Amino acid sequence: MNLTLKGIPVIAIDGPSASGKGTVAQLVAEKLGFHYLDSGALYRLLALAASRRGVSFEDEEKLARLAEGLAIRFENGEIWMDGERVGDAIRTEECGNGASMIAAYPRVRAALLGLQRTFCKAPGLVADGRDMGSVVFPAATLKIFLTASAEVRADRRYKQLMEKGMRANIRQILHDIRQRDERDSARSVAPLQKCADASLLETSALTIAQAVDEVLARFRQVGVQ
Ligand code: DC
Repeated sequence: MNLTLKGIPVIAIDGPSASGKGTVAQLVAEKLGFHYLDSGALYRLLALAASRRGVSFEDEEKLARLAEGLAIRFENGEIWMDGERVGDAIRTEECGNGASMIAAYPRVRAALLGLQRTFCKAPGLVADGRDMGSVVFPAATLKIFLTASAEVRADRRYKQLMEKGMRANIRQILHDIRQRDERDSARSVAPLQKCADASLLETSALTIAQAVDEVLARFRQVGVQ
């Protein structure tokens, strides 16, 4: 099967929180010279914008309107919102939890759909998130469901936060990860799930480089490269 969007190859990488899909997706995009979409960053940006503007995480209507007017820019690995660098600010656990809450609203998801699709440009796109293969790019060339055990993911997130000099508590992180998995999987719109046509990549025992090679190998198998 060699499905492409407007003839542009898309690799959709979905999976739970802290599975490493962002790192893997970014490296795959670099190796192939493709564009990269971190869709989780959009939900995080919206959570940050809402908390800064005093918009309640329970007000779906206002959140959707805020999503439609988000002034954001992705540039050389940095993310800008309203003229400010916000790459680090959106990575906090607080922002991640807020993103998970507001991502459950259908109107918020609909408001971010068009924006996500604008990332699909030649020569290709690697997109990571929860519903890349199921909703945003259903005709993706390759769909990967990338996961790891909750304990391995908590450990990875802990190390990532420590490296950034942020305070972290591993038990709290594991608790948050489980709670977020539950919320992302149980919601009625675009829940986190492996689509029938996605191939599973379990990375608990893999290094990042091995996971990247595996995605590239599967991409070659679908016959595009
Ligand atoms: O991938 P992440 O942890 O940065 O995403 C933050 C939250 O955003 C996640 O808990 C659920 C939501 N999200 C989503 O619902 N759909 C996506 N495509 C990406 C993220």
